[in-house]
Amino acid sequence: MKIPFSPPYIDDDVINEVTDSLRSGWITTGPKVKTLEEETEKLLNVEACSAVNSWTSGAILALKWLGLKPNDEVIVPAYTYCATAMAVIEAGGKPVMVDIKEDMTIDENLVLNAITPNTKAILPVDIGGFPCNYLKIKEIITLPKILKLYTPNSENQRLLGRIMLLSDSAHSIGAKINSQSVANYVDIAVLSFHAVKNITSAEGGMICLNLPAPFDNKELKKWFKIMSLNGQSKDAFAKTQLAGWRYDVVDMGLKINMPDVNAAIALAQIRKYDYLLSERKRFFDRYNSCLQQFKWAILPFQTDKLDIENAYHLYPLCIADISADQRDRLINKLAEKEIATNVHYIPLPELTVFKKIGFKISDYPIANKTFEHEITLPLYPQLTNEQVDFILENLISAHAEVISGK
Ligand SMILES: Cc1ncc(COP(=O)(O)O)c(C=O)c1O
Repeated sequence: MKIPFSPPYIDDDVINEVTDSLRSGWITTGPKVKTLEEETEKLLNVEACSAVNSWTSGAILALKWLGLKPNDEVIVPAYTYCATAMAVIEAGGKPVMVDIKEDMTIDENLVLNAITPNTKAILPVDIGGFPCNYLKIKEIITLPKILKLYTPNSENQRLLGRIMLLSDSAHSIGAKINSQSVANYVDIAVLSFHAVKNITSAEGGMICLNLPAPFDNKELKKWFKIMSLNGQSKDAFAKTQLAGWRYDVVDMGLKINMPDVNAAIALAQIRKYDYLLSERKRFFDRYNSCLQQFKWAILPFQTDKLDIENAYHLYPLCIADISADQRDRLINKLAEKEIATNVHYIPLPELTVFKKIGFKISDYPIANKTFEHEITLPLYPQLTNEQVDFILENLISAHAEVISGK
C-alpha cells in the first residue's frame, strides 16, 4: 500500500474551475483571484485579503509595509521553516530567534525577554495548524513597559504605535481561538497556498489584513495589490479593458501577484473547506485514539489550555526516549513499506545560512530536542481508514524493532 506524504486535493471541481480559467482567455491575476480573496475574507472573517504568489513573498511585503530599517528586529521561533526568518532578512530587518515550548509554539516568556527598543514585529508560527497563544503575546506587546521601549523608525511603525503582531499562518488557515480565526488576533496573518497546504493554488499565499485604526484595511488592500504588481496602479486585467491602457507606477513594488489559473485550484478547494477540515480532523483523531495507549507516543498539541480549533495541517508525533538516529531508522523502515513521512523541522540554527549569521543550536534546547524525536505522519482528506491503520500498524512494529536494536 503506497502512501504519499501530502498529495494535493484535486477533484472534478478543481479541474473544472481551472479549465474555466483556461477557457476564459484570462489566466493571470483577474476575477478568480478576486473571488478567492473574497472567499478567504469570509472564511476568516477579516476585512481585507490580498493574494500573492507565496507565503514568503507575502511576508516580505507585509514587513516592507512596516518599513523595517537595518537594525530593526523581528522575533521568530527557532523551530519553523527557513522562510519565516528569511522573509525578515529580505525585508531589511534582523531575525531574533527564540525557543519554543513543548507544544511546538513560540515560548511567550522568551519573547518578552527578547524584546529590545529595536523590536518592530513578532512573527509567531502556527506549526501544523495549531495556533500560538496570541492572547498572551498581545498582552506582552501592550504592556506599559514594552510600549515605552518601542522606538518607531518609519511612518507606519509610528502610526501603529507598538510592536506589530504578524502571524506565520502558513499552516493555519481556518484555525481558531475561542471560535475566532487566528487572523482576528493579529495585525496581519499570512497564509500559504503551497502545494502541500490545506488549501493550495500550487504556489500561493494570502495577506490577511486586520490592522487597528487609524489604518483602513480595505484601503490598505489596494496598496498591497499595487505593490504586488511592480507598484503599478492598474493590474493587467484592468489595463486590457477597452481604452484602459493608461497607468502609473507609484512606488518600488515587487512582482508577486497570484495568477487566476492558480487561484482557480484554491477557489474550488476553499468552497469545501469544512468538509476538507473535517476529514483531516477525523484522521488526526484516529491517530490519537490508537497512539494514546503507548507511553512512547507524545501526541501533538496537548498542552495549551485555550479553546483551540486546530487546522489539522500536520500530525507531528514525538517519540519519547528515542535518539535522532533511531528516529531516522524509523523513517527508513516506514519508507520500506512505502509509507512517506517527514520531519518538521530542522531547527533554523542548524541550517548553514543561519549558522553563518551566528545562531547556535545550543541556545535552543527545546527546538533541538523536538527535532530529534519528531516524525510527521501523513495527514490529508484523501486518506482512508485502512491507510491510517496500515500506517499505525507499521509505525508500532517499526518502533518496537528500532527500540530493540533490529
Ligand atoms: C511554517 C512555514 N512558513 C512559511 C512557509 C513558506 O511558504 P511558501 O512556500 O508559500 O512561501 C512554509 C512552507 O512550507 C512553512 O511551512
